[in-house]
Amino acid sequence: MPEYTLDHHLEGERQRLALMSRLLDPMHRRHIERLGLRPGARTLEVGCGNGSMSAWLAGRVTPGGRAVAVDLDLSLADADAPGLEFRQGDILAGPVEPGGFDLVTARAVLHHVADRPAAVANLVASAAPGGSILLIEPDFLPVSVAEPPQVREFWQGWLAWSREQGIDYFVGRRLPAMLAGRGVRDVGGTAETALYNGGSAWAEYWRQTVAELRPRLVASGKLDDRSIGAFLAQCADPAWWTQTIAFTAVAGHVPGG
Ligand SMILES: C[S@@+](CC[C@H](N)C(=O)[O-])C[C@H]1O[C@@H](n2cnc3c(N)ncnc32)[C@H](O)[C@@H]1O
Repeated sequence: MPEYTLDHHLEGERQRLALMSRLLDPMHRRHIERLGLRPGARTLEVGCGNGSMSAWLAGRVTPGGRAVAVDLDLSLADADAPGLEFRQGDILAGPVEPGGFDLVTARAVLHHVADRPAAVANLVASAAPGGSILLIEPDFLPVSVAEPPQVREFWQGWLAWSREQGIDYFVGRRLPAMLAGRGVRDVGGTAETALYNGGSAWAEYWRQTVAELRPRLVASGKLDDRSIGAFLAQCADPAWWTQTIAFTAVAGHVPGG
C-alpha cells in the first residue's frame, strides 16, 4: 500500500478525521450545492477518509443515484447510507470507472499524493462528459503572517518538514492551472480561511497532530522542542486568535455531454 504521512494507524487519526468532517463538510457541501446535484446522479469521492461527505452525497442523489467513495485505506470509513459504496483504491492506479461519474470530488488528498498531475488526470478521466469536478485543498499562505513571531517560526519548521515528506501545502493555488491543463472548462474557485482561537476545534486539531508527530518533527531537525512547546502553549490560550489554511475550492466541467 502506498505511504500516506498521517496514516490511519496514527493514534489520533480517527478523531482527526471526525474533526475534519465537522470543520470542513459544511463548506464542501456548499460548493457541491452550487454546482448542482440531482437525484439519480453518480458521484465519486476520492480520499474519502471516514466517508461523511459520501454518505451525504448518497442522500442527495437518492432515489436512483450512487455515491462511490474510494480511499487507499478504508479502516476508518464508518459512514453508512443507502446507495453508498466504499472501494479500496489508489487514484494513482488509474481512473475509477472512466467517464462514469456526474460529479468527482476530492478534499485534502492531493497535497499528500506523490504524483499530483497523474492523480488530477485520473480524477478528470473518471468524470462523465459534461460532469463536474470539485477539488478542495489547503494553501498555507496565511501562516506567512501568523502572530506572534514564534508561531510563524513554528510554521516555517512545519513546512520544511512537510516538504521533506513530499507534502505540498501550497497545492491550493495550483489547482486551477492543473484542471485547465487537463481540458476542464469553466474553471474557477475561491479560498476561505477559518479564524480560530486557542482551545477551539481547529486549535485542538493542530494540538493533537503536532503532539503526536512531535518525536518525528524533532528527529527531523526542522523543529525543536522549544518551538513546538511555544506553539502548543498558544493552542491552549483562548486569547490567541490566528489563521492557518486557506482552503481552496476549485471546480469546472469536463468537456462533452
Ligand atoms: C487528510 S485525509 C482527508 C480525508 C477526507 N477527504 C477529509 O477531508 O476529511 C486524506 C485521505 O486521502 C487518502 N489518500 C491518500 N492518498 C491517496 C491515494 N493515492 N488514493 C486514494 N486515497 C488516498 C488517505 O488514506 C486519507 O484517508
